[in-house]
Amino acid sequence: MGGPEMAPHTPHAPRPGGAVALRERVMSSQPGEGVAPSIVRDAAVLTPPWGGSMLPGTRDPMEPKVAPIDATLGAVVTNLDLARMDALTWKTVEQAFHDHAVLVFPGQDLSAEAQVAFANRFGEIELLAPDPEQKAVPISNQKPDGSVMEPDEHRFKSLRGNEGWHTDSSYMPLAAKASVLSAQVVPSADGETEWADMRAAYAALDEATRQRIAGLSAHHSLYHSQAKIGHVVQTGGGYGFHTKGAPLRPLVKVHSVTGRPALYIGRHAYGIPGLDEAESEKLLSDLIDFACRPPRTYAHRWQPGDVVIWDNRCVLHRARPYDYREVRVMRHTRVAGDPATELAPTHRDDRAGAYEPSSSNR
Ligand code: OGA
Ligand code: MN
Repeated sequence: MGGPEMAPHTPHAPRPGGAVALRERVMSSQPGEGVAPSIVRDAAVLTPPWGGSMLPGTRDPMEPKVAPIDATLGAVVTNLDLARMDALTWKTVEQAFHDHAVLVFPGQDLSAEAQVAFANRFGEIELLAPDPEQKAVPISNQKPDGSVMEPDEHRFKSLRGNEGWHTDSSYMPLAAKASVLSAQVVPSADGETEWADMRAAYAALDEATRQRIAGLSAHHSLYHSQAKIGHVVQTGGGYGFHTKGAPLRPLVKVHSVTGRPALYIGRHAYGIPGLDEAESEKLLSDLIDFACRPPRTYAHRWQPGDVVIWDNRCVLHRARPYDYREVRVMRHTRVAGDPATELAPTHRDDRAGAYEPSSSNR
């Protein structure tokens, strides 16, 4: 099993209060000795922000703990309250997000407002519901009357679609930066969410494959991915079933913060220009098969109250099946991509009712 891949660490922002002075003393007393950021931080917590001093060896009680998962991606983050993070804790979380791409926060029990506020730290919220005030949406097989959806229902087929490896909103002109998911009601067994590391997948490709895909791009369409599982949806049938066209996105995406290349694929991808349909389909499914296996995957068995954030720019994810007679309620908040790096040109999508190019997701 490969260990966690750590991106180069950058120093944490100064904690307000007395810690700063001590940090500066530590750094300036050892010029040129290359003090590791973690050592600096350990020294910094000796002087808590509220003044006074802590005994050497004691820790700030809210020092978050980031425990890498035994896979190339993912970390479990504990000893923090996502609803009340100070600036230094936020910096630790943001750095961990870039290092690990998937962060699991057990037992946070966030309100919808707190979940939206947490997502909002990463960027603007991508609006998924017609009501612009609704910034968190349920991902659930439960209907308003409390009963569970039947297999032939439109929205149930959308849920089943989530069981294919994908990245969120790659079928929109502006693909997503990140997604936050929290568990509200979980089935008695199964129903995990699983992630796969497309940075590590790219790094593991043989040279011939890397060269083959270097200049290639694929179209992305939710009409396409749902049709493949027998769910043919008309324009206007829900978020993603639009007339803006199918975005064309390179198969290799360089991360705008870490600079790491990653495969950018998933079930919404189809129609690689320059390849015939069968070749395109085979290449894309071979890449998914290769990419989405250990040690590059992590499946999370949910407890109510757990929160996970992932980086849609460099990981794929999927829901795992469960007994659909049981209720599963998740709450989803999506962070919009940066137009500088997640906006793509679109082309006519033959499955859509019309083609009205737009660079806006709304
Ligand atoms: C999502 C998603 C998977 C799940 O929220 O974007 O794909 O396990 N969810 O519900
Ligand atoms: Mn998804």
